[in-house]
Amino acid sequence: MLLLHELPELAQIPLTSIFLVSLLVISAVLLLLRSRSPSTPGQKRPGDCVFRDLRIPESLSSTIPIVGHVIKYARNGHHYFSTLCFSTSLPIFTIRMGSSKISLIKPGLTKSLPKVRHLTLGALVVEIFKRSLDLDESSCSLLKEEDELSRQFSPQLSRLFREEFIPVSNIRKHVEQLDGFIQSELSLIKDTRRIQIEDWMFKCFVGSLGKLLWGGDDGPFGDPAFVSHLRKFLLNIQRLSNPAKFMIGDDLLASRRFVRKRLDGFSFDDYTEKCTGQDKGSRVDDSFLGRVRALCLQHGASADGWTDHQLLLIFGLVPNVMAASTWMAHHLLADPILMSKVRRELDCFIKTSDGAINLAKGPEACPHLYAVWYEVLRYHGGFTIGRYVHEDTTLAGRYLLKKGSFLLAPLRPHHFDQQIWGPDVDIFRPERFLTKDGKLDYEPTKNLRVYGLFGSLCPGRFLAVHFAIVGIIRLLLAFDITPVREPHVPPDECKDTLVGLVTPAWDLEVSLERREDEHVQIIFDDLGQGG
Ligand code: HEM
Repeated sequence: MLLLHELPELAQIPLTSIFLVSLLVISAVLLLLRSRSPSTPGQKRPGDCVFRDLRIPESLSSTIPIVGHVIKYARNGHHYFSTLCFSTSLPIFTIRMGSSKISLIKPGLTKSLPKVRHLTLGALVVEIFKRSLDLDESSCSLLKEEDELSRQFSPQLSRLFREEFIPVSNIRKHVEQLDGFIQSELSLIKDTRRIQIEDWMFKCFVGSLGKLLWGGDDGPFGDPAFVSHLRKFLLNIQRLSNPAKFMIGDDLLASRRFVRKRLDGFSFDDYTEKCTGQDKGSRVDDSFLGRVRALCLQHGASADGWTDHQLLLIFGLVPNVMAASTWMAHHLLADPILMSKVRRELDCFIKTSDGAINLAKGPEACPHLYAVWYEVLRYHGGFTIGRYVHEDTTLAGRYLLKKGSFLLAPLRPHHFDQQIWGPDVDIFRPERFLTKDGKLDYEPTKNLRVYGLFGSLCPGRFLAVHFAIVGIIRLLLAFDITPVREPHVPPDECKDTLVGLVTPAWDLEVSLERREDEHVQIIFDDLGQGG
């Protein structure tokens, strides 16, 4: 899952350099723009017959000419895009940042997005990740869909993802395996001790998710050093986008090398052996990774490019669900009353469950826990989703989106709209997802946009909620958790993660006291699904 938070290269340019360079080029660029830009709304261009009645989204200039957007963006990150949306009544507008032309779209127009043609995710992924992940040229070319063969790649890959993550039978299997991995991670903590919650949750949760898809305990995620380097890598994508390598730092580059090398060395033959050994009769070609790899190779990826695709997959699967789970822990630990309601509902769920709690009944039995999940998605899901415009195309029958530009949809205006959510949008209040009689209310969940709004939705959305809920339930069942410094207030700042939900800016130290073991199984057994 690949969502634009920040255009990393722009954000990494030192501000003084931006000023110097821009002062030199400012007059030349102004002249150039004046002579060739069709930025006046509705202006017709010679030879443009198909698009002649369309208008190019109006430009929104900054108070500082040319470099203003870059500077403000560098200071405020993705919040800057949302601030611009809140500052204008235009439903769509264009800003220029360096050589990138970006159209920002507000909620009023987003229902038209699924119908817009020629939008692709891959080229945007390259823009965000090429430098930070150190992607090779063949992988970039495949993602950018530069030829006919590669153009078939992305729809087929999306189909493969849907086939893997959406069927209930697969979700059931994944939930069981995840729970097994999480329990074995938890059992490693023997005595009462202090831990950093995000650091530890990352190791436990990401290790488990990774083992689920990458060869279990024998795969790269079975090695704690890999998970540790991966965490550093994931949380520093913006720093890794810096064109000046000396500014990145040797330790971070070493972590990236470590992760890449381990994935390079994740021999597919070993994986094959494991797959066949584990489940007699199942072939590696039928396994999830096996099918992703076959698809990459079939569409022209080099064998070396397989490491790139594994990395992209990891960066797609991990950060969102990890950030969401960590925020859940922060908010529960910050609110003892909420925590005790959640624990009470959970205890009652277990008592009435006969040894195996069924997640399909989770929302009914533990409405407060699920309300926290949805409020986390709303409150911390203010990132930006985007696409690259591959060909000149139209939006809502009125606007011309120019080939080579980016179309971005900041989510904050959706999730902080007072008309939808009420006057208290700035407050974290899970109860907005509860009915008056305390049941989970699915109606407001329909206004969440975290899973996409360009016509396709995240295929992992069903698994994501189960993943986070299983993790939190297991944590609560295993330990009494107390913040070392009380009262705990969740961070109001975030780390510069590039994609998806932001990560809390600082970690929280807690002490853990093991509880009496409940010996309860967690299963998922249902034909319907809730996201
Ligand atoms: C809170 C958790 C999550 C959020 C907010 C989230 C959000 C998203 C978004 C916005 C997209 C892009 C959709 C688009 O613009 O077309 C996406 C794509 C994707 N997500 Fe998620 N996601 C989450 C968890 C997961 C999980 C747990 C998995 C898998 C285990 C997953 C797998 C994917 C994949 C494979 C794609 C790419 C789909 C494609 O290219 O067709 N996601 N996700």
